[in-house]
Amino acid sequence: MPAPLVLGIETSCDETGVALVRGRDLLADVTASSMDEHARFGGIVPEVASRAHLEAFVPTLDAALAAAAVDLADVDAVAVTAGPGLVGSLTVGTAAAKALALATGVPLYGVNHVIGHAAVDELVHGPFPEKFVALVVSGGHTSLLLVRDVATDVVELGQTLDDAAGEAFDKVGRLLGLPYPGGPHVDRLARTGDPEAIRFPRGLSSAKDRERHPYDFSFSGLKTAVARYVEGCEDRGEEVPAADVAAGFSEAVADVLVSRALGACELNACDTLVIGGGFSANSRLRELAAERAEQQGVTVRIPPIRYCTDNGAMIAALGSALVRAGAAPSALDLPTDSGMPLTRVQM
Ligand code: KG4
Ligand code: ZN
Repeated sequence: MPAPLVLGIETSCDETGVALVRGRDLLADVTASSMDEHARFGGIVPEVASRAHLEAFVPTLDAALAAAAVDLADVDAVAVTAGPGLVGSLTVGTAAAKALALATGVPLYGVNHVIGHAAVDELVHGPFPEKFVALVVSGGHTSLLLVRDVATDVVELGQTLDDAAGEAFDKVGRLLGLPYPGGPHVDRLARTGDPEAIRFPRGLSSAKDRERHPYDFSFSGLKTAVARYVEGCEDRGEEVPAADVAAGFSEAVADVLVSRALGACELNACDTLVIGGGFSANSRLRELAAERAEQQGVTVRIPPIRYCTDNGAMIAALGSALVRAGAAPSALDLPTDSGMPLTRVQM
């Protein structure tokens, strides 16, 4: 018998994602984004995002079903992001998922978006090892997880105490006068600068902080240091060495992310590190992770970028893992939780 066909729905932020997964095979993954509508505001406008999901949902669903050459009646289970995310956006996706599950009489799974960012890698690189460390980094999250089973056994090791890595990049992008979202622009500029020209601070890196927070991150001090540096140049009437600032800043962020993640592998005797979330597009993070992981004998798994940004495949992948694990479905009246804890895989 073929594995159950799982429909995955993602609407936690500005991307409307719908995907179809059978077992660990991705049959279709379609995403619509409302980012263009937010760019001029310099940030996501929740009400605009909710309305965009409402408009995009049915066309995105139709496109995914057509791409997979299946019918709604073929779907065996529906998985949807229940949290964390913007409450209005989550509500559109969960309402749609509930309606589809009810109409077709199949089980519904409300799942955790952040854990989905790790789960999607199984569709790309095959079954997970017995245990692994996951680093999920995006504009909204920077978390370290210890995963024994993505469906049933996820432990939150740590997270950022202030900004997410992508958020810090977006803020530095603004300081350097780059368009929103600044992350990719800062990354591109950094490639042309000298990463050693300016040494920016690494958050929580004193011996005392490392002992108290072996798995946590902090980027607010770094962000302030960059702001001070830029202001200093301006006060002195000097030109800001933007490429060197971007390179030094990128180096500091990648250094902290990679050292904490590989430290977590060592402390938990894991030989696999999975990296997910939109920030894993960052070129310095990818380079440094590959370089240092090899020295430590750790295998790094990073999905292609289209599966790192928010998408339906990650939610279908996690739904499929839950079905495979025999997890009980969620209630048809499941709530959304904008602050859904990472200890909770399923609502
Ligand atoms: O996962 P994602 O698409 O959405 C959220 O859930 O936040 O992540 C987008 C975030 C944004 O902050 C964006 O600026 C950042 O990831 N980002 C990057 C790069 N590509 C995206 N930051 C640094 N370097 C990049 N290449
Ligand atoms: Zn995300």
